[in-house]
Amino acid sequence: MSLHLGDTAPDFTADTTDGKIAFHEWKDGSWVVFFSHPADFTPVCTTELGRASGLDGEFSKRGTKTIAVSVDPVEDHKAWAPDIGEVGGTPLSFPIIADPDHSVSELYDMIHPGEGDTSTVRSVYFIDPQNKIRTILTYPKSVGRNFDEILRVVDALQATDANPISTPVDWRPGDRVIVSPAMSTDDARARFDNVEELKPYLRYADDPQA
Ligand code: BEZ
Repeated sequence: MSLHLGDTAPDFTADTTDGKIAFHEWKDGSWVVFFSHPADFTPVCTTELGRASGLDGEFSKRGTKTIAVSVDPVEDHKAWAPDIGEVGGTPLSFPIIADPDHSVSELYDMIHPGEGDTSTVRSVYFIDPQNKIRTILTYPKSVGRNFDEILRVVDALQATDANPISTPVDWRPGDRVIVSPAMSTDDARARFDNVEELKPYLRYADDPQA
């Protein structure tokens, strides 16, 4: 199944390291970062899941739950968890879905035939409280993801939901933002601080959430 931005994130039930879950019920109106990894007991995946566990507090601050999936069985996930804790310096802090029949991975288009086998690639789905897919990232198996970027995307999505703004290149919370093209410069000056019209179509303002 091919999923696009704005689609409803498909619901499913699955076995996880935290027991059986029904995805939408588990999600319970939170933001979710749902990411796949190719296989258990592999080096890049171990570093990624360790890092994601270490960022548990950062995700919580943003009202965001994390959950991972791979096509390996739950017994393997559980046997691997201590390594993730050791490498990441903190215990595994979120469920890993077991998907040996590929039902969840196929539902989320996380298996790419060109990648050589039937394991999942490194997909990341950002899902909002209304269960809408808001961002999709896909990395090949050989390239570990940057979890600072994943947090930054959550920040940018939440910032652009809260105000009529976009975030410019390399934006981080507190940096200047771009006023929505739908807003006049006069209205922007009434709403935001330090509005600067660099071009008629490019107006910067202070981050209203800073
Ligand atoms: C890894 O996590 O190290 C990995 C997994 C599958 C293929 C290549 C690398």
